[in-house]
Amino acid sequence: MSSPLLADLADIVGAEHVLTDPDVTQSFGTDWTRAWSSTPLAVIRPASTAEVAAVLRLCHANGTPVVTQGGNTGLVGGGVPHGDRTSVVVSMTRLNSVAAVDRATQTVEVGAGVTLSQLQAHASSAGFRYAVDLAARDSATVGGMVATNAGGLRVVGLGDTRAQVMGVEAVLADGTIIRRLEPLAKDNGGYNLSQLMTGSEGTLGVITAARLRLVRQPAEPEVVTLIGLPDVESAVDLVASARQRGDLTAAEMIRAEGMAVVRAVCGLTQPLANEHPVYLLLETATLPDLPNDVDAAVDPRMWEYRDRQAEAVATLGIPFKLDVCLPITAIPEFLKEMDQLPDTQGREVHVYAHLGDGNLHINLVDIDEPTSERLDEQVLTLVAQFGGSIAAEHGVGVHKTKWLHLSRSSAEIATMKAIKNTLDPTGILNPGVLLP
Ligand code: LAC
Ligand code: ZN
Repeated sequence: MSSPLLADLADIVGAEHVLTDPDVTQSFGTDWTRAWSSTPLAVIRPASTAEVAAVLRLCHANGTPVVTQGGNTGLVGGGVPHGDRTSVVVSMTRLNSVAAVDRATQTVEVGAGVTLSQLQAHASSAGFRYAVDLAARDSATVGGMVATNAGGLRVVGLGDTRAQVMGVEAVLADGTIIRRLEPLAKDNGGYNLSQLMTGSEGTLGVITAARLRLVRQPAEPEVVTLIGLPDVESAVDLVASARQRGDLTAAEMIRAEGMAVVRAVCGLTQPLANEHPVYLLLETATLPDLPNDVDAAVDPRMWEYRDRQAEAVATLGIPFKLDVCLPITAIPEFLKEMDQLPDTQGREVHVYAHLGDGNLHINLVDIDEPTSERLDEQVLTLVAQFGGSIAAEHGVGVHKTKWLHLSRSSAEIATMKAIKNTLDPTGILNPGVLLP
């Protein structure tokens, strides 16, 4: 080991779990989009909460920045270092313990490094389901999903990660462990520190485990319907009527450009009789009510056209990406105005959406630089004018710190900074992320 710090880290986690070879560490320093990339000082792979606490005590004493990383599927630069050889990445994938499902409380305690797919398989082997699902399921970890309050495909029916979190165990900047993992449906004891950690993007502590709620398996598999539509207005109307029936678990939108790309990249056939400007995927317990003459297909394989959007768009280059949320009825007008902005006019904007949540994923691919403050400013200001959120489900990361004021008042940001300064006074946890 080339420095006293690295030698001390090796004493804690074992030399084989302190990675310093740039060929190995580079992938831990580059986020999924490839828009953010730095070389970590080292990648540390602890195997237990006690090891995480010892690593943090040491980094705290040394003033070494710590970036916590799960499956590295983030899209806003929140899980990678910024600046070469300045931060250690603490990779959480070895904290992958899975306790037996507690049937009486319908909850399960899992380590931060458990992947979403592993959690889903574990829940379903006990006859339950974990409510949150997203395309990165094979890599995304529980710790990362809790830290970012991940949303995904079923928020409209089953809620986001926050809704599933009963409690978390986390390590604070100075190595203090806070633990709230008991299966208690009622437990009022002051501030809810588990929920404070949820969505804190690695800036307040390192989440090491969580107790998560599970939902019942549906008696029958849900009905998946892909519907071809002339415009976004019609899709919004159909979501409203589907919601009213009370059995909607997902309402996803793809536009013509996204359908073309996913078909070309993934070799998929045309899903409906005709091509359409807009496609709506509904997942419901029973067949949805549809207009008589509509072009639609009922088939669970229709999910693939939506699930593989991010992957397909990424093959076109490093896209400029924004993840925003709007009042759903404002979306048609928002999209029209977005197309008229100085920097979007005349360009192909790929938009796919968790339409039921009002959550749009906006991608520009014909771009030299994957980051553009001009585009950020124009689109996010418009989002704010429509009463939307500049950070829907991917987090603030480093991408949106500058724009947080569009969604949060200065009083709110000052309160967040006060919390941050109390829990992490020297600012070693994920510097540059979330707060301006
Ligand atoms: C999706 C990811 C990118 O919805 O959030 O596909
Ligand atoms: Zn999404």
